Amino acid sequence: MKVLVATEKPFAAVAVNGIKEVLDNAGVEMVLLEKYPDKAALLKAVEDVEGLIVRSDIVDAEVFDTAPKLKIVVRAGAGYDNIDLNAATAKGVCVMNTPGQNSNAVAELVFGMTILMIRNHFNGTSGTELKGKKLGIHAYGQVGRNVARIAKGFDMEVYAFDPYCPDDVMKKDGVTPVASAEELYKTCQFVSLHIPATAETKQSINYSLLSLMPKGALLINTARKEVIYEEDLARILEERTDFHYVADVAPTIADTLKEKFGNRVFFTPKKMGAQTAEANINAGIAAARQSVGYLKDGIDKFRVNK
Ligand code: 3PG
Repeated sequence: MKVLVATEKPFAAVAVNGIKEVLDNAGVEMVLLEKYPDKAALLKAVEDVEGLIVRSDIVDAEVFDTAPKLKIVVRAGAGYDNIDLNAATAKGVCVMNTPGQNSNAVAELVFGMTILMIRNHFNGTSGTELKGKKLGIHAYGQVGRNVARIAKGFDMEVYAFDPYCPDDVMKKDGVTPVASAEELYKTCQFVSLHIPATAETKQSINYSLLSLMPKGALLINTARKEVIYEEDLARILEERTDFHYVADVAPTIADTLKEKFGNRVFFTPKKMGAQTAEANINAGIAAARQSVGYLKDGIDKFRVNK
C-alpha cells in the first residue's frame, strides 16, 4: 500500500521524517514528491497510490481520474478549497483535513505582519502600539481563537464575528461577540480575516465593509486571497491614505498595489502562515495517522465530503 506526499511547498525535513515513521510503522510505503514542476508530475505520481497527502496543492477531477486506486486524500492543513470534493465523492474517495494543527503558526504570523506594518516597516519613524487597540476577528475558528489568545497578551480589546460560533465560546475567551460583519468592521481599527474561501465568502470583503473601518485601518489576511474583492480593496487604498493591508495570500493585483501604495501594503513572497517546523510536524503527522487510520480501519473522523 502506498501513500504519496505531494507538496509543491515542502514540509520541514523533520516533519517528512515523522510522516515516514508513521507510515513505515503501519507497513505503508511513503512516496515523496516535493517542489514538483508541473501538474503532469503529480498526475504521474498518483497513478498507483491508495493515499495522498497534500497542502495547498490542487487536487482536481483530473487527479482523481488518473488515480484509480486512490481511497483517501488528506489536506495537511485547514482549508480544503484546493480539493474538488464533488469529484472525490463521485469516485468514492474520502477527503479529510487536519483542523487546528497549524493554527498557532498562522496566528503568530498575523501579529508578525501587523507589527511590521504599524512600526512602518522598521524604517526609523515612530509607529504605534497594539496595547489598548481594538482587534476584530472575522470568523472564530481554530486560527481565530489563537489570534484572540495572543491579542489578549498584547492587551488588545478583542471582538469577533462568526455566525457559526456560539457567543458563549467567544465570551469564555474574553472576546466580545458582535452581531454582524458590519459592526465588526465599524468597531475595529484592526481586522483579521479567518473565513474559508467558499461560494458564500468569495469576494465578500468589499468596499461597503472596508469603508466602515475606523481611521488608521489595517486589514490582515492570512485566510485566502479569493475572499477579497480586489477592485474594492484598490479603491479604498486609493481613497484613504490611512488604510493599510497585509496579506500572507498575495492578491492577483499585488504588483499594482505595491507600486501604487508602497509601504501601505505588505505581502509575503510565498504563503508562509503554516510554514513552521512545529506546524509541519503537527499537520503532517496528523495527516499520516489519519491516512493509516482510514486505509487500515476505515476511521473517517475529519472527513469533509460526507
Ligand atoms: C491552511 O489552510 O491550513 C493554511 O492556509 C496553510 O496552507 P499551506 O499548507 O499551503 O501552507
